[in-house]
Amino acid sequence: MSQGVKIIAHLLFSWLVFSNIMSSVNAEYFNVIHYGALGDGTSDDSLAFLEAWEAACSTRTENSTVIIPENKTFLVYPVSFSGPCKAKNITFLILGKIVGPISPLAWEGINPSLWLTFNGINGLNISGSGIIDGRGSGWWNQSCRDHPGLAVNILSCNASNVRGVHVMNSPQTHILVMDSNRVDIRQVTIRAPGSSPNTDGIHIHSSRNVNISQIDIGTGDDCVSVGDSTSNINISDVKCGPGHGISIGSLGRGGNFVKVENIHVSNAYFNRTTNGARIKTWQVGKGYVRNVTFENLYFNSVENPVIIDQYYCNVRGTCKEQQSGVHITNVTFSNLFGTSLSSVAVSLHCSHYVACTGIFFNSVQLTSAKAGSEVTSSCSNAQGFAFRMVQPEHCLKI
Ligand SMILES: *[C@@H]1O[C@H](CO)[C@@H](O)[C@H](O)[C@H]1NC(C)=O
Ligand SMILES: *[C@@H]1O[C@H](CO)[C@@H](O)[C@H](O)[C@H]1NC(C)=O
Ligand SMILES: *[C@@H]1O[C@H](CO)[C@@H](O)[C@H](O)[C@H]1NC(C)=O
Ligand SMILES: *[C@@H]1O[C@H](CO)[C@@H](O)[C@H](O)[C@H]1NC(C)=O
Ligand SMILES: *[C@@H]1O[C@H](CO)[C@@H](O)[C@H](O)[C@H]1NC(C)=O
Ligand SMILES: *[C@@H]1O[C@H](CO)[C@@H](O)[C@H](O)[C@H]1NC(C)=O
Ligand SMILES: *[C@@H]1O[C@H](CO)[C@@H](O)[C@H](O)[C@H]1NC(C)=O
Ligand SMILES: *[C@@H]1O[C@H](CO)[C@@H](O)[C@H](O)[C@H]1NC(C)=O
Ligand SMILES: *[C@@H]1O[C@H](CO)[C@@H](O)[C@H](O)[C@H]1NC(C)=O
Ligand SMILES: *[C@@H]1O[C@H](CO)[C@@H](O)[C@H](O)[C@H]1NC(C)=O
Ligand SMILES: *[C@@H]1O[C@H](CO)[C@@H](O)[C@H](O)[C@H]1NC(C)=O
Repeated sequence: MSQGVKIIAHLLFSWLVFSNIMSSVNAEYFNVIHYGALGDGTSDDSLAFLEAWEAACSTRTENSTVIIPENKTFLVYPVSFSGPCKAKNITFLILGKIVGPISPLAWEGINPSLWLTFNGINGLNISGSGIIDGRGSGWWNQSCRDHPGLAVNILSCNASNVRGVHVMNSPQTHILVMDSNRVDIRQVTIRAPGSSPNTDGIHIHSSRNVNISQIDIGTGDDCVSVGDSTSNINISDVKCGPGHGISIGSLGRGGNFVKVENIHVSNAYFNRTTNGARIKTWQVGKGYVRNVTFENLYFNSVENPVIIDQYYCNVRGTCKEQQSGVHITNVTFSNLFGTSLSSVAVSLHCSHYVACTGIFFNSVQLTSAKAGSEVTSSCSNAQGFAFRMVQPEHCLKI
């Protein structure tokens, strides 16, 4: 071989090595099995998950991926996957099944409020066709009302998304988005029995710019709920039932100043849920809920299809009258169809002190789910207008 050919061959070889290194720097994979996870469903794999996360998070790369492989079940105790990460985007790819400790006793001695927590991350991508099973049934009959155990917690994350995963049987809320900006949740299914208490599907709190779409939720509490200090929220293409519907609130529970605005709910199908489109606020709350649209909703045998309640209380009627409230204004209900189980299909129970203003109805056709029965609207202190055909007849004051 001539010297020239040798040099070219050497350069070519170096280039191949270099480009290989480059591609591994651009996209790296961290399989929890390589960090000691057994995936037998009974061994504690928490440490392996944390180590795989640490490795993925601290790698300076474009895309870093933690892999939870298929056909295995991983028992994981409450863990926190924290940022900030050196990786620009970090994917938590769930192909197998992650299960929580089966007994509430197993949570003792650890902070039990949150199970899987993702904290302070930019560019987090939770995806895959796998299952997250909180195995929360042991909690559901505990006496305390707000028992711990929120399943998937996205805290202080930006530019993040959740795709395709299945979340089930959380002790409490299934997916919590809190203190976050630019979160997109899509194609997720959530399942818990209709009788399980406080098992909200997705709860958004203190966050802005959140999309939730193409989701299928059956649970024991709200399918989606929107809490205090939230803005620019799009919720669309939702199948809800069993469950308590899509709820803005409860808001202002602690007497705090509520700021909730630009909430857009569209294309939702409520199947035998207790509520449909709901806004609920505590009398002690202050502040506002404004610029809300509920549109293209279909109700199948829903107990209370449309409900605004400014007298929300743990036990209905037991909170004494307060001279305060969260101002609810500019709320549009447009294109609502279907059937109501209760005789009051539209209930707007607004405050004597802080009335609801700018409530709009546009094309509403609600009938009784019971043959031969009629439905009505009920209003107190609700101001606004109706457009096009509205059935039952509205009771708004101008
Ligand atoms: C990162 O992932 C995205 C989506 O999977 C892909 O489009 C992009 O090419 C990846 N970037 C690199 C550097 O691997
Ligand atoms: C997982 O199980 C399915 C069905 O048994 C099989 O087709 C697939 O190859 C398995 N995957 C792995 C990685 O073992
Ligand atoms: C990866 O991160 C960069 C920088 O934060 C961002 O611009 C890009 O959109 C991200 N890519 C993906 C696929 O998330
Ligand atoms: C998210 O964005 C906010 C500003 O909007 C910034 O203060 C915060 O550090 C960001 N968080 C992460 C994890 O990048
Ligand atoms: C998230 O990860 C999944 C699986 O790797 C990938 O298909 C998808 O493109 C990623 N999306 C983004 C925005 O990074
Ligand atoms: C709660 O449910 C668990 C399992 O479903 C059962 O073992 C336990 O005895 C129940 N506790 C109470 C107080 O009913
Ligand atoms: C939400 O969806 C809209 C429309 O698909 C898109 O333009 C927007 O960027 C998304 N927002 C986030 C935070 O992902
Ligand atoms: C909500 O959807 C609208 C229309 O699809 C889009 O313009 C807007 O940016 C979305 N909002 C968020 C927070 O992504
Ligand atoms: C509605 O719920 C019932 C059970 O409550 C179920 O049998 C039915 O398939 C659901 N309908 C749709 C369209 O999902
Ligand atoms: C929301 O409400 C505020 C106050 O009424 C108003 O200034 C704003 O233009 C409204 N609309 C949007 C899309 O933010
Ligand atoms: C009322 O809210 C809608 C969005 O739901 C917004 O487009 C409109 O600008 C708001 N009007 C006022 C007067 O704030």
